[in-house]
Amino acid sequence: MTELQIVTLPDEVLRKKGRPVTKFDDDLQTLIDDMIETMRVANGVGLAAPQIGRSLQLAVIETLPQVDENGEDIPDSRELFVIANPRIVWESRDVIDGIEGCLSIPGYVGEVERAYAVRVRAQDRRGKQIKLRLKGWTARIFQHEIDHLNGVLYIDKLTDRENFWTDEEYYNMRQAELEEEAEEGEEVAAEETAVSKPEKSS
Ligand code: NI
Repeated sequence: MTELQIVTLPDEVLRKKGRPVTKFDDDLQTLIDDMIETMRVANGVGLAAPQIGRSLQLAVIETLPQVDENGEDIPDSRELFVIANPRIVWESRDVIDGIEGCLSIPGYVGEVERAYAVRVRAQDRRGKQIKLRLKGWTARIFQHEIDHLNGVLYIDKLTDRENFWTDEEYYNMRQAELEEEAEEGEEVAAEETAVSKPEKSS
């Protein structure tokens, strides 16, 4: 497998609608394997063909690992999808804001509203028709990748122009929020102790 070069903004291929995949031949299988390899090396959860300079309706997606009750990753719990010519055929009215990044816009993240759940029709790597029901983070990744196939990037869909940060800004903001939450937690704990003391003494 070959690691492919990921194209970044402002490369215009990212803004073009991809051509449908029509031949599910050996060349396509090689391309798909190389895209999977490239996604994994880049620590991505999805990669669309335009991101490696190929204007095609093709994307690979690998879900986040599931976590056990201790918050540890469960081995081999990631799920790999290859989708060709995908279409979102249904989306939930429920929407959810979340933070997204993109391998083609390195160093930045932004907040985007997405449907909580979607149903997708596509073809798999051999051309077989598939139907997928997705929700949560997996549904978000699918919406992000399918946007790529239509020349749409997450920065087009920010919840607000201000909700776009460098990785460092976002990290610092999250740290500050977590510290604030921890302090509030301590205050609550102190209040609870104060309330529970008289009970204990009675
Ligand atoms: Ni992306």
